[in-house]
Amino acid sequence: AQSLRVGIAGLGTVGASVVRLLDQQKDILAARCGRAIVVTAVAARDRTRDRGIDLGGLQWYDDPVALADAPDIDVFVELIGGENGPAKKAVETALRAGKSVVTANKALIAHHGEALAHLAEERQVALSFEASVAGGIPVIKTVKEGLAGNRISRISGILNGTCNYILTRMEKESLSFKKCLKQAQVLGYAEADPTFDIDGYDTAHKLTILAALAFGVDVNIGAVYVEGIRSIDAFDIRMAKKLGYRIKLLGVAERSESGIEQRVHPTMVPDDSPIARVMGVTNAVNIQADAVGELTLAGPGAGGDATASSVIADLADIARGLVSPPFGAPAASLGRSIQEPMQVH
Ligand code: NDP
Ligand code: HSE
Repeated sequence: AQSLRVGIAGLGTVGASVVRLLDQQKDILAARCGRAIVVTAVAARDRTRDRGIDLGGLQWYDDPVALADAPDIDVFVELIGGENGPAKKAVETALRAGKSVVTANKALIAHHGEALAHLAEERQVALSFEASVAGGIPVIKTVKEGLAGNRISRISGILNGTCNYILTRMEKESLSFKKCLKQAQVLGYAEADPTFDIDGYDTAHKLTILAALAFGVDVNIGAVYVEGIRSIDAFDIRMAKKLGYRIKLLGVAERSESGIEQRVHPTMVPDDSPIARVMGVTNAVNIQADAVGELTLAGPGAGGDATASSVIADLADIARGLVSPPFGAPAASLGRSIQEPMQVH
């Protein structure tokens, strides 16, 4: 079978890991997919930067939009970030050109997911974003595929690795908020603009993507109540501990009498509860559904290799020829809850 030719835009924390892992795991991937997955072209800003990966033989583009339009790639992988700008333009260009797209960009999907899904469905190509929620945890596949036969009533959890890392280190090592954030940036966990992490918007982006998949509501960041951890200080953490609690930044989407409620805020959780024991960059997602009951997935929520694992899972699906509606249901049906005839948001 013909190789799947991949163009990757963005060679930072996630992009560099994807290039390295696709090479490292090429035999196992070829065996699983029945064909090779080969990176043929890349795009980033700085040609001279040492990224610790071998870019020899790959075509280099300065402009991600030009890469998205290149006739000799089958799939465009967007790992630049940002809800607008070159990421959006390049993703639209690739879809319009009939290429499947894989992205880790939750800001893009949370703001433009529905329009992009329409475009992908029109062209009958994939728009896949497993890496956009909870890093290495395959939560999108779980909700979209594994729980397709369930009526979901609640989906909640820790969806931002940077915040959980900061809260953990502040508590365990009495370090300052600023120092912990700096370290999360050095480790590649934080967004390019870390206010998205600490002010709760990154969690909200992820939550609204999960809500669309779980409940069929539209992807709408405006429907989410958002409060971050910026104002949490050492005193709050100590007081919570004294009272037998731990502070976690949670995202919750659940059915309420008026529709699907979506909220992000710091929460005091009993320190012997499972969610309180989720520490460091780990994320955890708890899902309540009628047939399966309750299930919890936990794992690395950020970081190059863990996130690359999810990007590669999407590429493997495309290599196998699997194309399904990006949000599990046709994009035209989003906004009409799949649950019950009820008001949404
Ligand atoms: P980085 O900042 O590490 O990398 C961004 C890359 O994009 C860089 O290689 C940069 O090029 C390139 N880039 C930026 N602007 C342009 C442009 N105008 N033209 C061409 N290339 C450009 O980001 P991450 O790898 O951390 O994140 C990438 C995406 O993955 C984001 O959407 C993020 O939200 C998401 N994500 C990140 C996770 C993580 O743990 N880091 C986890 C899950 C999702 P250059 O290197 O030359 O400057
Ligand atoms: N900045 C994000 C986080 C990356 O810390 O969770 C993973 O989406």
